[in-house]
Amino acid sequence: MPVLVLVGAQWGDEGKGKITDMIAQGVDIVVRYQGGSNAGHTVVVNKKEYILHMIPSGILYEDKICIIGDGLVIDIPVLLNELKDLSRRGISANNLMISYRAHIVMPYHKVLDEKEEELKGKHKIGTTKRGIGPAYVDKMARIGLRISDLYDIDEFRGRLGYALKYKNLILREIFGHEGFNEKEIEEEYMEYAKALKPYVADTSLILDKAIKENKTILLEGAQGTLLDIDYGTYPYVTSSHPVAGGACIGSGIAPTRITRVIGVTKAYTTRVGEGPFPTELNDKIGEHLREKGCEFGATTGRARRCGWLDTLMLKYSVRINGFDTMAMTKLDVLDFLDEVKICVGYKINGKILDEFTTDYRVLRDCEPIYEVLEGWKQDTSQVKSYEDLPKQVKEYLVRVEKRINTPISIISLGPSRDQSVILRKFI
Ligand code: IMP
Repeated sequence: MPVLVLVGAQWGDEGKGKITDMIAQGVDIVVRYQGGSNAGHTVVVNKKEYILHMIPSGILYEDKICIIGDGLVIDIPVLLNELKDLSRRGISANNLMISYRAHIVMPYHKVLDEKEEELKGKHKIGTTKRGIGPAYVDKMARIGLRISDLYDIDEFRGRLGYALKYKNLILREIFGHEGFNEKEIEEEYMEYAKALKPYVADTSLILDKAIKENKTILLEGAQGTLLDIDYGTYPYVTSSHPVAGGACIGSGIAPTRITRVIGVTKAYTTRVGEGPFPTELNDKIGEHLREKGCEFGATTGRARRCGWLDTLMLKYSVRINGFDTMAMTKLDVLDFLDEVKICVGYKINGKILDEFTTDYRVLRDCEPIYEVLEGWKQDTSQVKSYEDLPKQVKEYLVRVEKRINTPISIISLGPSRDQSVILRKFI
C-alpha cells in the first residue's frame, strides 16, 4: 500500500506537474494537500498543454481518483472554470473529490492580498495576489468559511456576516475600498454550492478506506520547501506547508502511513516574487536559463529569477522532507553551456557555511561558493536511456547526488511525458 508524497525541493515551479503525471500512471489516487490557485502545474500530453491550478494533474487519466484535500484554500470560481475547461477539452472530472474541510478563498481575501502588498511597499512578498495569505489567516483566526458551510445556509450567513463586518471595516477604513455586499456574496456562493455538491466528500475517510484496501496514493505538494511558512525563507514564503509533513495535515493521512517521500528539483534554481536568492544570476546565463527554460509563471506570467543549482539548499530540503529519492527536471536547459556550476557552500564575514540557513540576512549577504563542471554542449532532449547521456551529464548527476547524499532516480529532459529517463526504481 504505497503512500507516496511528492514535494518541491526549491522555491516552487520545479516541474512537479510532469513528475506527478508520470508517477500517477501507477497509482490509484492523487491528492493535493495545500495551497490554492497560487499553484500552476503544467502538463503536456500528446502535444496538448494543460495548466492546472487546483485540480491534481492525475485528472488527465480517466481511472484515477483525484482529491482536493483538507489543507487547501479553494477559489471556487477558478476551480469551476478549470472544470469547465477540462470538460470542453473532453476530460471528465467524475473522479474528482473535494474535502468538506477545505477553506474557501473569498472575494475579500483577494482584495486584501493586493492591498496589503501595496501597503508593505518595499517589504512586499511578491504574492500571486490570489488571496492565499488572507484566506489562511482567517482559517487560523477561526473566522474562515469552509466548503461544508456552503451546505448550511444559517451557518454560512452567520459566519459570512461576522467576517464581512470585520473585513469591510478594514477595507473601507484602511484601504478606501468600497467593501463587499453580504447578500450578493451569499447569492453567488449558494450557486457555487450547487455546482460543487457532487464532488464534496469526507476525503480523509475515503483515503483511510483506500489505504486499507491497499490502494496506491500519491500526495502532491504545490509550491516548494523554501516557500513553506515555517521552513521556508520567511517572510518571503507562502502561507501553507508544502513540506512533506504538511501532506499528513492537509490530507488527513497519519504520518505512519507514508511510505516514501520523493523530492523534485530543477537542474538549476528559480524563484518568483521577492526574497533572497544566493545563486541568482543577473547576467546572460540567467537570461539564457529563463528563455530556454521558459521561466515565466504558469499562474501570473511573471518572469522567474534564475540561478545555479544550490546543493546547500537541496541538502536542507532533503533533511526537512526526508526525501528517499529525487527527480531532477529541466536538465536539458543546461545543454549548451560551456560550464555548469553547483553551489556547495556560502561565504559570509570570512566564514564558510556548509549548512543552509533560512536566516534572511545570511542569504542576502552571503557569497556562494561554486564547484565548476564541464558543460556537455549537446542536445539531450531526445535521450531515452542513461547510457546515452553525455558523460558530463552523468558527472553532474554524480556530483549533485554526492552533495545531497540522496539518489536521483528520474531525470526530465523536456516537457513531454516521453522526455524522461528513469535511472533506478523509485517506488
Ligand atoms: P502567495 O502564495 O500568493 O501568498 O505568494 C507568496 C510567495 O510564494 C510569492 O513569492 C509567490 O511568488 C510564491 N509562490 C506562490 N505560489 C507559487 C508557485 O506555485 N510557484 C512559485 N512560487 C509561488
